Amino acid sequence: MCGIVGYVGPREVLPLILQGLKTLEYRGYDSAGIVILGEDLSLFKRQGKINALEKDLQGLHLDGRTGIGHTRWATHGAPTELNAHPHLDCDGNLAVIHNGIIENYLQLKAELLRLGHHFRSETDTEVIPHLIEEQLKSQSSLLGATLAASAQMEGAFALAVVSKRFPNQIVAVRRESPLVLGVGKGENFLASDIPALLPYTRDILILNNNEAALIEESGIQLFTLEGKALQRQPLSIDWDAKMAERGGYEHYMLKEIHEQPQALRETMVGHIDWDHSLVLLPEFPDDLLTGARRLYISACGTAYHAGIAGKYLIESLAGLPVEVEIASEFRYRRTPFVEGSLGLVISQSGETMDTLAALKRFKEQGIPTLAITNVQGSSVCREADHIFYTKAGPEIAVASTKAYLTQVLSLILLAVKLSQLKGQPQPELVCELKRIPLLAERVLAELEKTVQEYANRMRFLDDYFILGRGLDFASALEGALKLKEISYVHCEAYAAGELKHGPLALVTQGKQVCILATQRNLFAKTLSNLKEVKARGAEVLALSFPDGNELEADEIWSLPPTLDPLGPLLSMIPLQLFAYYMAKEKGCDIDQPRNLAKSVTVE
Ligand code: M6R
Repeated sequence: MCGIVGYVGPREVLPLILQGLKTLEYRGYDSAGIVILGEDLSLFKRQGKINALEKDLQGLHLDGRTGIGHTRWATHGAPTELNAHPHLDCDGNLAVIHNGIIENYLQLKAELLRLGHHFRSETDTEVIPHLIEEQLKSQSSLLGATLAASAQMEGAFALAVVSKRFPNQIVAVRRESPLVLGVGKGENFLASDIPALLPYTRDILILNNNEAALIEESGIQLFTLEGKALQRQPLSIDWDAKMAERGGYEHYMLKEIHEQPQALRETMVGHIDWDHSLVLLPEFPDDLLTGARRLYISACGTAYHAGIAGKYLIESLAGLPVEVEIASEFRYRRTPFVEGSLGLVISQSGETMDTLAALKRFKEQGIPTLAITNVQGSSVCREADHIFYTKAGPEIAVASTKAYLTQVLSLILLAVKLSQLKGQPQPELVCELKRIPLLAERVLAELEKTVQEYANRMRFLDDYFILGRGLDFASALEGALKLKEISYVHCEAYAAGELKHGPLALVTQGKQVCILATQRNLFAKTLSNLKEVKARGAEVLALSFPDGNELEADEIWSLPPTLDPLGPLLSMIPLQLFAYYMAKEKGCDIDQPRNLAKSVTVE
């Protein structure tokens, strides 16, 4: 959470920092601030979104070759201008921006107050400039003082520090919270995430955990937190700047929903031998998969829902027992692992704090780890033993869409691969995968207008049920999360067979219910559940294949027929569109829903 941008070089700094912040706004958007370092240190802050700050700064041209900017997701202190970053030392000569939480800030603050420092905000962050100020009394470099101050701090942080005493330098430090560095010619960059750097460079140095960087025009030097110099070559990132733009769509979310057929195609590239109808998964070694007796999946939010789909898929196709658990729970439980356990984490960003903790827990237990992620060089990639990259491209909208579909696809590939290794290839399923991107395009073309009209009719909806069995239950959970987070409509996802054990009491005349029926082996059972809610007066929308027309629903959205294990790849698309158009009907902030942030790097 929180976005950090920094630049040292000859370009006009202010617009560059503003542009970077806009790209990172998905990380947090309750206030923003910028420092430009020229002869003076100029500080600008504003409560609210970046465009409010941009309006304040319109027409302003500042000299200076160094700047840092921050977009905040508040943890300590209300989202006010005073609490917005950057924060300054006592004299206003040194500025710091921070992502993360300084856990011992109260003790540090008490000591700094005793030493005579003045504080202006309620944040944990403000101790940092004062700690560095204190260190600069004895240290001769900004890097040395920042490292010494960092050693006093407990918790997770990504920092960028500038000082009038050290013009044209940014010191960056990383402990847990992400930071990436962009390597240019005669200019260098810093950001919380890669998309902010793509307009300028694709040569990216990932700052690892417990590392620092000194960023100057002439180059970037990397150090350990003990000050030992490090050498590392930049990665060349295969995303281009266009991928992180809205490309004519009104919102990133809609663009990303429409990118799904292509994201599915790209994720399959190199992973299927079409001639022999076999899945290739070189990322995950065969002997590891063959030796697995149980797979533990851990993830958060949407990625957790992909994990649930993965459980159904892997158990039914490959007969391998799978446990799935929310990472924030898993990390603190004492799970009794069985011999032959394999740990799998799923994370779009690869930076989610709880998912990283789950990954570390697997490692502490000596369990080999696999990861499915979308971001090269992310923390998950550095920690996991084996990585499979989804090829969704940059996902900017807070609501995850194309990442989910590619995660489910990756788990289908894993399930088929495990099945192959047991001597049970799945040629029919592999062949059908080839058609899936085309079918996803058909769903978009055939259903978008219908979904939009339904959302218009439902515009006063404030409570909804989505029901499904088997894989449809996983999709129901994800569909309900989309509706909640984007349109703020309360929605419960239920395993359709579980409804009568309690929630059916909520189903009365006129209640709106959606039933997913893409699993043919469960079709008759789902039909009974539909009848149960109809009998209580519910109005039912059903998502099914054309042969599901016998469902006595008030409205049916027909999906192009496909094999049951692939159903979720199609049924999710109208559910995402429904959340999108409901949010539009309600005038919600679709790409940046209230209280949320894209990358959850705090607990
Ligand atoms: O980057 P990750 O996949 O680890 O993120 C996990 C969740 O925070 C994320 O999926 C969240 O639930 C999305 N906002 C859902 O749309």
